[in-house]
Amino acid sequence: MARRKLGLIGAGNIGTELANVAVTREVADVVLYDIPAKEGLSRGKALDLEQMTALNGSYVRVWATSNFEDLSESAVLIVTAGIPRKPGQSRDDLVGTNLPIIRDVARKIREHCPNAFVIVLSNPLDAMVWELRRVTGFPPERVVGMAGMLDSARLSLFIARELGVSIQDVRTMVLGGHGDDMVPLLQYCSVNGVPVRELLPEDKLEAMVQRTRIGGGEIVQLAGTSAYYAPAAAALAMAEAYWGDRKRLLPAAAYVQGEYGYRDLYLGVPIVLGRAGVEKIIELQLTGEEREMFAKSAQSVASIVEVVKKTATHD
Ligand code: NAI
Repeated sequence: MARRKLGLIGAGNIGTELANVAVTREVADVVLYDIPAKEGLSRGKALDLEQMTALNGSYVRVWATSNFEDLSESAVLIVTAGIPRKPGQSRDDLVGTNLPIIRDVARKIREHCPNAFVIVLSNPLDAMVWELRRVTGFPPERVVGMAGMLDSARLSLFIARELGVSIQDVRTMVLGGHGDDMVPLLQYCSVNGVPVRELLPEDKLEAMVQRTRIGGGEIVQLAGTSAYYAPAAAALAMAEAYWGDRKRLLPAAAYVQGEYGYRDLYLGVPIVLGRAGVEKIIELQLTGEEREMFAKSAQSVASIVEVVKKTATHD
């Protein structure tokens, strides 16, 4: 049987944490790709990671490269190329720097990995994944953005800690764009099926929703750069859902074509993720207030996509 190959585009904080977990869990052979200026650093990290396999008993291999051809035959690509936020910046502030990077990566993916399933993390997420799909020309089911799993994980943690219950029993759903106006859906949040609204008063829940919205910024403020452990875990869970055909229902940035009343945008929606990629978009019933929040979030995403469209190149 052919060995599985996971291509990690961007060998920075998230990329190397992804490699670490993928190697430890023997998910696949790992190829770390970065720009030539970073090749020494990423080769050093790859060697360190591969030497770790002698100690943890995993059988996968790790390479680092600045030659995109080495990513060919990667069934799954995870894109973290680009810069992260610094304190005081919003995700949207990154568009000018990360847009040319995403275009460069997208052209190379189209040329060398035409059949890959692609998970994008680079920010501003919803606009970057939109552009990567446009430039690759891939079918929308093969290009997805990771954000909702991370935002939901943050809300789950706050609820678990507040209630003093196991985080494994907490289920949350955060939709919309990956910005501060994301849409946490409390009506779909539960502790093993028990609605959170039966367990916590509205003011406590509202405080947790607000903390979730600025959850990324809280870490940037403390650490001076973006989160990377939880984002890597979320992206890897998506890769495993694809490879294992697990049909997981999870929130992700998917290409909407009429769902929730929007078209030609990437928005955080519940999807079913299996071997065909985004196999389904689930349309939930939203309350009037949730619909308004969703509309505001979609409007923010659309305004960044407009910026992207204005500078669109004919690739
Ligand atoms: P980082 O700065 O540690 O790593 C980014 C890497 O991308 C660097 O090594 C850089 O050399 C590389 N890179 C730059 N241009 C490239 C190109 N043309 N081709 C290949 N690689 C290139 O950043 P970190 O912390 O890993 O974050 C990466 C991105 O993920 C940022 O845009 C950040 O905002 C975003 N992010 C997204 C999250 C999400 O939920 N979607 C959560 C956290 C971060």
